[in-house]
Amino acid sequence: MSEAWNKSGWRDFPRVQMPDWPDADLLSTAEARLLKSPPLVFAGEVSQLKHKLGEVCEGRAFLLQGGDCAESFQEYSADTIRDTFRVLLQMAVVLTFGAKCSVVKIGRIAGQFAKPRSAPTETRNGIELPSYRGDIINDLEFTVAARTPVPDRMLRAYSQSAATINLLRAFSQGGYADIHRVHTWTLEFTSRNEIHKYRELAARITDALDFMEAAGLNSSNISSLKRVDFYTSHEALLLEYEEALCRVDSLSGRNVAGSGHLIWIGDRTRQPDGAHVEFCRGVMNPLGIKCGPSISPDELKVLLHKLNPNNDPGRITLIARFGRNKVAEYLPALISAVSEEGAKVVWACDPMHGNTVKAASGYKTRRFESILGEVREFFAIHRAEGTYPGGVHCEMTGKDVTECTGGVSAVSDENLGDRYHTACDPRLNSSQALELAFLVAEELRALH
Ligand code: PEP
Ligand code: CO
Repeated sequence: MSEAWNKSGWRDFPRVQMPDWPDADLLSTAEARLLKSPPLVFAGEVSQLKHKLGEVCEGRAFLLQGGDCAESFQEYSADTIRDTFRVLLQMAVVLTFGAKCSVVKIGRIAGQFAKPRSAPTETRNGIELPSYRGDIINDLEFTVAARTPVPDRMLRAYSQSAATINLLRAFSQGGYADIHRVHTWTLEFTSRNEIHKYRELAARITDALDFMEAAGLNSSNISSLKRVDFYTSHEALLLEYEEALCRVDSLSGRNVAGSGHLIWIGDRTRQPDGAHVEFCRGVMNPLGIKCGPSISPDELKVLLHKLNPNNDPGRITLIARFGRNKVAEYLPALISAVSEEGAKVVWACDPMHGNTVKAASGYKTRRFESILGEVREFFAIHRAEGTYPGGVHCEMTGKDVTECTGGVSAVSDENLGDRYHTACDPRLNSSQALELAFLVAEELRALH
């Protein structure tokens, strides 16, 4: 690392989007407890993920990253975790077929609790309170007590993350993720009448699996058909939490963020001289950097030098989140900046965060058409630039929510109130998420 680093060093840098904890003693007690707790991930897994992302960098694999905008204490259950995991697996099988290469699977899960907000306070009926910043900090309810930051929430988020990652490991390795089972779920989806347009692609996957079976390649003798490698990720926003879970890997002596496999820096917290960049530069984990319209090519170059001075492939994933109408204006200049530096990065498309609109009913929503439109633009721009569109990043859930409009499930503005459960941004529901995977698979097939 170019300059000395320690895990508390970020405290001397300007910080944004972090709470003012009203009680310093309670904060220290919570930090001390986290410090004594086991990390959630092991350095070996983190290196393995970095290696796989290096493959994405070289165009030999594809990245799928998805999950909640914000995990919540209220939605927490084994069923919720299972349903999100199941849809991600289904998406991954469809994408594997489309990309003709392996798909690196990362959940926005087991730590995705802290949220940046566009305003520090929220006003309702003349009453102004601190904004909700995610369940790891305060509560969504609009009362003074609920909106006050409570450090013990970090411990609750930690326990929930630990139990979540435990279940995900069991599902990944214990037989639940068998490719045949996953594909059967997808066939159930495509057999529903209105979704016949994806049947052909699903049938081709069936043929491919049948062929493998006939050739003697099945889950009983090929373990990769029965098990998956699944990784966790979240925005490294709440630095007290990140610092308290940072550990030194006893094998390599390197620092690892023990809170999740990949951590990313948000679009609002990526100031090159800010606290978030300072913390992230010192840990060995793969890092995401969200890139929205406000990042300049020069700023991106500075970030790449700070965060990846050795230009390791797999260290950096740039998550482009411009919005359908802006991606063509901003992305090419960033791609050029990366090429000028010869920087090795994974390019992923987050078609969610630049496409949020307010429906007439007042709900925050995203139109499936805009999401898809941004993905298509992203692919077209990379095709024109001769670079590899390496992945997609989406906010989704395995539940049948009504938060984004459009898609085969035909959620309309009028239906948004039916099952609008998100604690923060609108998510794709299970059929919209799978539909997105089919459409991305078609784009990927066109690349070959
Ligand atoms: C997010 O991914 O939930 C998020 C807040 O994204 P961004 O930083 O890109 O706005
Ligand atoms: Co979000």
